[in-house]
Amino acid sequence: MTNQKKFYLSTPIYYVNDVPHIGHAYTTLACDVLARYKRSRGYEVFFLTGTDEHGQKVEKAAQAKGETPLDLADRVVKRFQSLWDKLNISHTDFIRTSQERHKLAVQHLFRTIEEKDDIYLGEYEDWYCTPCETFWTETQLMDGNCPDCGRPTDKLKEESYFFRMSKYQQQLLDHIDAHPDFIQPKSRRNEILSFVREGLRDLSISRTSFSWGIPVPGNDKHVLYVWFDALTNYISALGFPDDDENRYASFWPCNVHVIGKDILRFHAVYWPTFLLAAGLPLPQKIFAHGWWTVEGQKMSKSLANVVEPNRLIDKYGADAVRYFLLREVPFGLDGDFSHSALVHRINSDLANDLGNLVSRSTAMLSKYFKGVLPEPGPAEEIDTVLIEKFSTVLSELDQHMENLAFNRALQSIWSMVSAANKYIDDTAPWGLAKDPSQEQRLGTVMYNLLELVRLISLMVSPFMPETGVKIRTILGLDPEDATMDGHDQWGSLLAGQKIAKAEPIFPRIEKE
Ligand code: MSP
Repeated sequence: MTNQKKFYLSTPIYYVNDVPHIGHAYTTLACDVLARYKRSRGYEVFFLTGTDEHGQKVEKAAQAKGETPLDLADRVVKRFQSLWDKLNISHTDFIRTSQERHKLAVQHLFRTIEEKDDIYLGEYEDWYCTPCETFWTETQLMDGNCPDCGRPTDKLKEESYFFRMSKYQQQLLDHIDAHPDFIQPKSRRNEILSFVREGLRDLSISRTSFSWGIPVPGNDKHVLYVWFDALTNYISALGFPDDDENRYASFWPCNVHVIGKDILRFHAVYWPTFLLAAGLPLPQKIFAHGWWTVEGQKMSKSLANVVEPNRLIDKYGADAVRYFLLREVPFGLDGDFSHSALVHRINSDLANDLGNLVSRSTAMLSKYFKGVLPEPGPAEEIDTVLIEKFSTVLSELDQHMENLAFNRALQSIWSMVSAANKYIDDTAPWGLAKDPSQEQRLGTVMYNLLELVRLISLMVSPFMPETGVKIRTILGLDPEDATMDGHDQWGSLLAGQKIAKAEPIFPRIEKE
């Protein structure tokens, strides 16, 4: 095992009965940004995503199409994987719950908990919402319908294995109390605290009503409940329990599970109590982000307003989509997607602010110094202020990334971009260029600008990897090297460096 700092983060695993839309892309994207940032800070990152393939919904959908559930899953999985490629997602592993490695881990977890006497055979009777794969008590129903999606529920009675979740109520409360960052944002933590305080019931963790799932060890009349199965992906992908590659030992407990707010209870109540029962460490943090609506409405197939990320990427490029989704809305709050907001962000933040900074700086360097970076002369106050601003932005960035406050991280970076653009206006290099006695001063201004462009290329790289590569290519640096550790101090760009004149990196979009 190396001594390198480790960071493990995960997306939820996506159901294969739906094709990917911007909601799924959002969770995955946020994780990718964090993964890239941590890598740039010298961490060895394990970034997990994958697909949740079992359950009645997939079984029914496959039946309706006359194919096997696995054939259906194989088809849909490809759509997720090709979208992640197109969005430049840099995951380390892709777990599918239909894989053998996963089945072994799930069955092992079941047996471990059973041996502790925390699983028993009983009879289950409750209201089941098939689309949500969730059981509800009579009192939780809204006019007889599922309180989450509003669709009708069915009364189900069947033999079932139960997990003694009730036994872990106090232990879970104590853990949440002792670890203020365990569930974030804070409003979500409070929501879970009051849910748990109301009392935990034992949880039915097996079904006999369908067969597309992982059999209960020793009783294959039953398959495991999809959430018992799905949640275990976070350790099965690490090689639990055999751990031949030492991944589980190196990376568990995970640093953060990033999820949407709709699946918080499963992650913040069910999963920790399974782990407590099995005597395994709990994840360090669970962060629940908000939901996207589209032009003010809930995304749904029936409204035909589902935003297809592939089309957006084809039209605007992966970086613009990545930037928009993380800049527009504070992570943790709900947001609304609109094409006009996206176009506005591209034109103002990307084409105007960042794009202009890069093209103005490189065009002036080419004009005044034939594209060769001069040695900087003595710093004036305006230069010192700019350099201090950079170190403030750098520490803000660190802090915001720590808090998964992606929009604030981008705001900080953009405050640097604006300061750099203002520096151009204030120092007016075109005026200095007219006066031969100001050549050294002009050189200092150009050096500072290009050095900032380099540093900005590193800061934006986790969010917009293609843009980082483009800028570093223009600067004549190693385009793929986005490492911040050791490269984020002022003055690393060397005089004499040959820098190309940039083509616009973000063309303006005409409003339709
Ligand atoms: N399979 C379960 C997760 C199991 S994790 C052990 C699941 N899958 S899902 O495909 O339905 O959803 C995956 C993620 O997409 C969730 O985090 C969910 O919040 C997110 N989103 C789905 N629609 C969304 C929006 N409209 N907006 C933002 N995120 C949304 O749940």
